[in-house]
Order: sequence, then structure tokens, then C-alpha cells
Amino acid sequence: MAKVLIVYASDYGSTKRMAAAVAQGAGSVEGVEAVVKAAEETMAEDMTSSDAIVFGSPAHMGSLDWRVKKLFDTVCSGLWMKSALNGKVGAVFTTGGGFGLSGGGAELTMLSMLANLVELGMIIVPLPKNTPGYELGGLHWGPNIRTMDNTAQPLPLTEESFESARNHGVHVGRLSLVLGKTAIFDH
Ligand SMILES: Cc1cc2nc3c(=O)[nH]c(=O)nc-3n(C[C@H](O)[C@H](O)[C@H](O)COP(=O)(O)O)c2cc1C
Repeated sequence: MAKVLIVYASDYGSTKRMAAAVAQGAGSVEGVEAVVKAAEETMAEDMTSSDAIVFGSPAHMGSLDWRVKKLFDTVCSGLWMKSALNGKVGAVFTTGGGFGLSGGGAELTMLSMLANLVELGMIIVPLPKNTPGYELGGLHWGPNIRTMDNTAQPLPLTEESFESARNHGVHVGRLSLVLGKTAIFDH
């Protein structure tokens, strides 16, 4: 049995919905239990008892949400001191409203979180481009969906919008069964 923890911050529900999709995918893998927690409620024990941790953040002011950053800077930094997350499987996802054709901030949001995961000694799961749903909600760093159009009007989010997130969860779940309990970085 492996445990996948999905941690997210959300004000308006889109990132929370994506967290649920990741959990649905991870939980569909036989032998995997998926648990979803808001960043503010996540304790050290939630993370140390998990084989994989997936972090989700909306793009805020071009980068990650402060509640996710606070979790890294408080709870995770203590775990870094103990090398307690070494070798666990890690992954990320984001949502962004954007403005203009390209939006802005989703990639930096994911890269900021991934930099923290690498610092914590975690093994990163990418989102390969042949993942079903990638064309609607994917970046190679992880699932990402636009929740607003080029003029910042809300976009309708369909079930298909979350397909890449569900499949990211499947990938994380499968990897957590293989890697999550190894002690490759122990000394
Ligand atoms: C304070 C704030 C700052 C934001 N900054 C950005 C941004 O820099 N880039 C972007 O793409 N969207 C930005 N957005 C839009 C959100 O990323 C987007 O609406 C997101 O899907 C909200 O997620 P939620 O529904 O989980 O709260 C911002 C929203 C808020 C509230």
C-alpha cells in the first residue's frame, strides 16, 4: 500500500478541483490511497507518512500562492533539516487565470515548487506530452489549466479540463508503489 498526499491552496475552487482530479487518478491505482489536504492544514506527519506528495498552487502575482510557500518555508524546512522527505515521489500542478494570449506565471509557479521539491530530495514526476488530456491542460512540468480567457473573463471548466490532472495522479500513484518506499538516499 502506498499513500499519495495532495496539498493545494485555492480561493475560488479551481485548484481544489484539480487536486481532487489528481487524487481521483492516484486513488484509481490499485494499492494506492490518496489524501487531499489544504496547505494551511498540512502537518509534518501528513508528509512524512506519505510515499508521494503532490503540490498544487494557483498562479498569484506571477508566482506561487503564499500559503504553499509558507508550507515550504515552515513545515517543509524543518523536514529538510532532517532529510525526512528524501526519496519520496514529488509532483506539482497549477491553475492560472492569465491575461493576454499567453497568460503568465503558471510556469514559474510550477518551477518554484519543483525547486523546493528538489531541495527536499524528492524524485520528480514530469508530465509527458503523450499523457491523455495534455493538449487541454498540460505543461511538461505538470498539469496546468487556464481558468480565464485572454481578457480575464472566467472560462468554463469541463471534465476534460482535468483529464491531464487525473492522469498525473495515475503516474504519481504508480511511481509511489515502486519508488516511495526505497531508501536510495539513506546514508
Ligand atoms: C491575488 C491574485 C493574483 C493572481 N495573479 C495571477 C497571475 O499572476 N497569473 C495568472 O495567470 N493568474 C493570476 N491570478 C488568477 C488565478 O491564478 C486563477 O484565477 C486561479 O485559477 C485561481 O485558482 P482558485 O480558483 O483555486 O483560487 C491571480 C488571482 C489572484 C486572486
